[in-house]
Amino acid sequence: MIKFWTYKNEYKFLRNKILKNIDLTLKKGKIFFGDELVRFEKNFINLNKFKYGVAVGSGTDALYISLLALGIGANDEVITVSNTAIPTVSAIKSCGAKVKFVDVKNDHLINVDQIERKITKKTKAIIPVHLYGQSCDMDKIIKIAKKYNLKVIEDCAQAQGAKYKNQFVGSFGDVGCFSFYPTKILGAYGDGGFISTKSKSIANKLRQVRFYGIEMNDKKNKYNNKYYSNNHGINSRIDEIQCSILNLKLSKVNLWIKRRRKFAEIYINNLKNTSLILPTENNFNKHVFHLFVVYHPKRNEIINKLKQYKIQININYPYPIHKMQAYKDIKFNKTKKGTLPITEKMSKGIFSLPLHPGMKKNEILRVSSVLKKIVMKM
Ligand SMILES: Cc1ncc(COP(=O)(O)O)c(C=O)c1O
Repeated sequence: MIKFWTYKNEYKFLRNKILKNIDLTLKKGKIFFGDELVRFEKNFINLNKFKYGVAVGSGTDALYISLLALGIGANDEVITVSNTAIPTVSAIKSCGAKVKFVDVKNDHLINVDQIERKITKKTKAIIPVHLYGQSCDMDKIIKIAKKYNLKVIEDCAQAQGAKYKNQFVGSFGDVGCFSFYPTKILGAYGDGGFISTKSKSIANKLRQVRFYGIEMNDKKNKYNNKYYSNNHGINSRIDEIQCSILNLKLSKVNLWIKRRRKFAEIYINNLKNTSLILPTENNFNKHVFHLFVVYHPKRNEIINKLKQYKIQININYPYPIHKMQAYKDIKFNKTKKGTLPITEKMSKGIFSLPLHPGMKKNEILRVSSVLKKIVMKM
């Protein structure tokens, strides 16, 4: 069986170090807000050349905390895509703002040419999603945001390490939101998230919202706070054990990105000249291939055949958000081709091939040769 994802190979490789780290961390006597967190925030900022950053409990929280810290709420509108993971949109709903969807282009990323026509007096922010590990067209997005005085919240959950014009995602907008969900480019052994920013005052606000709105910047002891809330906040702590594991894995992440790109290259070389539509790397981009997503109109037939060969795939994502019951209230202007035609078309034919650094090269070769055989016969 070739699994879509498993942490077991990685764990075999890192087990001794992880267990040692957990033990050392627990012996220090702090479960939250200790030096593993301080070290991780520093390390993640350095890795991505950010100015400031705050680690939080998950990628979903990173988005929600960012919206709260930037003052976005009821009566405001936020522009994003429907071709994304649920949390991009749930975070907007949680803060009380209205969601305005824009379609994607064939690269699965926000169609920047459609953003301006969705802007109203109520629009406060754009959330571009660097989906599957590739950056959106950030020059155009920042230009529009400046013109209309909008905040930009980059959803980098799938794109740690990805670059646009040689600059890391998460450093273009007002904030960048990351996820350390275990399958992600940098994955914890539990939940975790991060918010990057260029602004010291936004960073301070994010820190407060992360922890009930409490000011944490006591100079003598960074995390020795007074129990007093300045800003409405939530609880989104990341624990010391997760930070110690992330600190360990962080030193390997660039090698793992290289391996992902190498595997993607093998898939592309072996599957070109078939009827599959393969992912592409846009000009100016460095794609990190969190997911390797292909498109074929006969998806279901292909998936059934792959199952017979014991190859697991995934669909990211089978339903656009606006087609889900929870988000049916989001309004659209319908066109003859549907509401968000490219998003809807993609959702019916996309599927993701197994690709993660714990895989072996011969597994990638096997998936490509089996898949090639299947589609060649169609
Ligand atoms: C695009 C996108 N945004 C946000 C998130 C939320 O991250 P988390 O699962 O850590 O809450 C995810 C991960 O699932 C994601 O893929």
